[in-house]
Amino acid sequence: MNEVIDAIGARRTVKKMDAGRAPPRADIEAMIEAATWAPSHHMTEPWRFVVLEKDARRRLGVVLAAAMAGDGAGPVPNERLEKERDKPLSSPVVIALIGSPGKGENVVPQEETVAAGAALQNMLLAAHSLGLATSVRTGSHSYSAGVKSFFGMSESETLIGMVYVGYASGAVPPGRRTPFREKVTWLTD
Ligand SMILES: Cc1cc2nc3c(=O)[nH]c(=O)nc-3n(C[C@H](O)[C@H](O)[C@H](O)COP(=O)(O)O)c2cc1C
Repeated sequence: MNEVIDAIGARRTVKKMDAGRAPPRADIEAMIEAATWAPSHHMTEPWRFVVLEKDARRRLGVVLAAAMAGDGAGPVPNERLEKERDKPLSSPVVIALIGSPGKGENVVPQEETVAAGAALQNMLLAAHSLGLATSVRTGSHSYSAGVKSFFGMSESETLIGMVYVGYASGAVPPGRRTPFREKVTWLTD
């Protein structure tokens, strides 16, 4: 029994949440603080966070739907756009994790993305430990200029993911992974 390893395996993406039940602000802050304990090459700490609650989620939905409509991938049915517009309202809090590259000598962009990804996982695990449900949302339209502008992002910044946070409503589906040994090569000589 190892609490950390068990939590890593037990954390799940939860999409159905009680949108009317907001987590305490202290829990959201604990998630963000946990994110910032991720490692980064030369300690560039290449992340920042935008927390959306209440009406800000509705405004995000409007921007996401507009981005999806203008994605260039062809016409999008109205139903699909409405679904996208309403998505951020499905959880009480959305935290945008923004990859914000620092000025580390010999730090290449890939390393900044890796570090921000580690921050993302820290957030998810912290939430899980606090009894909160999370799901990460992205999609090609979420990297559009309109979404960047909504989050006040600079040219060099990238959206790592929008973390929906709340309390699970209903059963959480089981996890599924490829057996890890299929992903491992041991070199011994
Ligand atoms: C960077 C990133 C982006 C993701 N984007 C989406 C998304 O747009 N929509 C979605 O339903 N899930 C998204 N997910 C969640 C994954 O689909 C989910 O983690 C995966 O199905 C495994 O489920 P589990 O987290 O319960 O193990 C994303 C996850 C990551 C790490």
